[in-house]
Amino acid sequence: MKVTQVEFEVSAVKPAQYPDEVLPEIALAGRSNVGKSSLINCLIERKNLARTSSKPGKTQTINFYRINNQMFFADVPGYGFARVSKSIRAAWGKMMEAYFTERKSLKAVIQVVDLRHPPTADDQSMYQFLKYHQLPVVVVATKADKIPKGKWQKYLKVTKETLQIQPKDHLILFSAQTRQGKEELWHLIEEKLEL
Ligand code: GTP
Ligand code: MG
Repeated sequence: MKVTQVEFEVSAVKPAQYPDEVLPEIALAGRSNVGKSSLINCLIERKNLARTSSKPGKTQTINFYRINNQMFFADVPGYGFARVSKSIRAAWGKMMEAYFTERKSLKAVIQVVDLRHPPTADDQSMYQFLKYHQLPVVVVATKADKIPKGKWQKYLKVTKETLQIQPKDHLILFSAQTRQGKEELWHLIEEKLEL
């Protein structure tokens, strides 16, 4: 997709605050600090519209971005951040469950994992949760720039096997730094949006 117009739409914590379901939507999912917001910025070619940070827990609300008046991206807070209280964790769970189960215009979820490490137990639970709710998932293994090219296939295999990615779901190698995988990911997004 050629991105010509990007607007921050709204931040939400509960369904009443989400934008009207007038456009098809793609959401992110993934561990805190894995690179979800960076991935959005890479796709839309904006440096820091989706706020990123080297410290986990940067994104705290569901942030909606309107792209070309054609679609929304929903950037979400990450999971698996150890230094949060039980009550915050519970609130996060409620917020995300409401979003993933109630959002009718959600066409697919981009689940971001770190290519360098086998998917965690939280990553596995997230994938299972999305599959239980019959959501199409594109798994993106990011930070590929941190692994030598000759080892990519080996690491991808670990990602695929650990998450037990279903045959109909895609796995893409990605780097927000080198923009590796950007075109391939846009292609899949357009397919899921039926644009
Ligand atoms: P939360 O909002 O806390 O859930 O994190 P997030 O998943 O949105 O991560 P974010 O995009 O803020 O990135 C976290 C850190 O990883 C930042 O320091 C980014 O610069 C870095 N990062 C993200 N993507 C890449 C990548 O592809 N390569 C490298 N080398 N660093 C990356
Ligand atoms: Mg973020």
